[in-house]
Amino acid sequence: MALPISGRRVAAALGFAVAGVAGTTAGVAAQALSPEDLATLRQEYRRPPPRPVGNAALVGLGRALFFEPRLSASGTTACASCHFPALGWGVTDAKSRNDSGKLTSRKSQPLIGLGHAGDAPVGWDGRSPTLEAQAKASIETGSMSMRDTDAPVKVEIIVARIRSDPAYAAQFAAALPGLRVDIDAIVTAIAAFERTLEPGPAPFDAWVAGDEAAIPAAAKRGFALFAGQANCFACHGGWRFTDDRFHDIGTTTTDRGRGRVDKDALMQFAFKTPTLRSVALRPPYMHNGSAPTLLDAVKHYETGGLDRPSRSPLMQPIALSETERISSRSWRR
Ligand code: HEC
Ligand code: HEC
Repeated sequence: MALPISGRRVAAALGFAVAGVAGTTAGVAAQALSPEDLATLRQEYRRPPPRPVGNAALVGLGRALFFEPRLSASGTTACASCHFPALGWGVTDAKSRNDSGKLTSRKSQPLIGLGHAGDAPVGWDGRSPTLEAQAKASIETGSMSMRDTDAPVKVEIIVARIRSDPAYAAQFAAALPGLRVDIDAIVTAIAAFERTLEPGPAPFDAWVAGDEAAIPAAAKRGFALFAGQANCFACHGGWRFTDDRFHDIGTTTTDRGRGRVDKDALMQFAFKTPTLRSVALRPPYMHNGSAPTLLDAVKHYETGGLDRPSRSPLMQPIALSETERISSRSWRR
């Protein structure tokens, strides 16, 4: 059965998540959803208010530490070296250079919205149970550690740098009174900061809130496909456009992803669903940057991905008519 869906119109659905990006779609509207269904679905994408900040001093301290290069072995890499504020705290490089001067094995992930992710595992493969554990691993043995050289720096030395800085000592005393400054206190602050990284407001949010003029007609058609026939919502549903779960979407990757920590057959080649908030800012796409543009990402979904035992049952080919294939060539981001 060939569903009349063009990559171009599904790609327009992704444009709705970010300011200034919209498909310039003409062509037929192929919508299985009634206006009533669509109105109901739209409400499922209504964003909640920002999470309340419990300890502002702790968050301020965490922000300072996030930008602190002395947290790395060499003293030259900060968390912010691979998580840029203007890119949803992500990157536009398929790989980043770690503190050892080596390239990371995967693309850095955006951090927006993580405060709303509950107890979802952290990382493309979910190998860290919490944001605190992730930050600790990054400093002790990960991309901040120079572990790929023969001169890694003990975490005690890194902690001592922070502890002996009077400005930090004062901030810790205010944020965590009576607590000793150690690696756990440091990552507590960083994680508290990360949980405040709310996605910026998008025209899409204004549309969901009732402003019909907030997004163009093409983006509305894209949303109808996204939340309907194209089945994107099955994994990218909800206001953050992610279920925070792991799926094999059938790319040609040789990275086992979640399969490295979970032997479950369905978890082989599975990666955590990325948020699509501000996604247009962050090419190239996927854990390995294998899709240079949003259109390439959509084209992957048209195929349904490689058929293998681990591929998610939610992946189905989306067929194109010849007319739509021709029209998709003129798609512009
Ligand atoms: C050299 C680049 C680099 C540096 C420095 C770096 N990161 Fe990352 N970050 C990455 C990469 C690459 C990933 C994906 C890791 C994976 O899953 O294989 C990632 C993933 C993450 C995630 C997971 C997000 C999610 O949705 O699961 C968090 C949180 C994070 N980093 C926070 C930090 C913090 C905090 C620091 C500083 C202590 C830091 N990063 C330093 C590159 C970096
Ligand atoms: C079975 C779950 C599932 C479905 C269905 C699904 N996705 Fe995804 N999506 C994922 C996962 C998992 C990744 C990350 C895969 C990787 O990194 O290799 C991803 C990645 C993406 C990316 C790249 C984002 C980035 O930051 O790199 C885009 C864009 C995207 N999906 C859009 C869509 C669209 C559009 C649809 C519908 C046509 C769709 N997805 C359907 C799970 C899904």
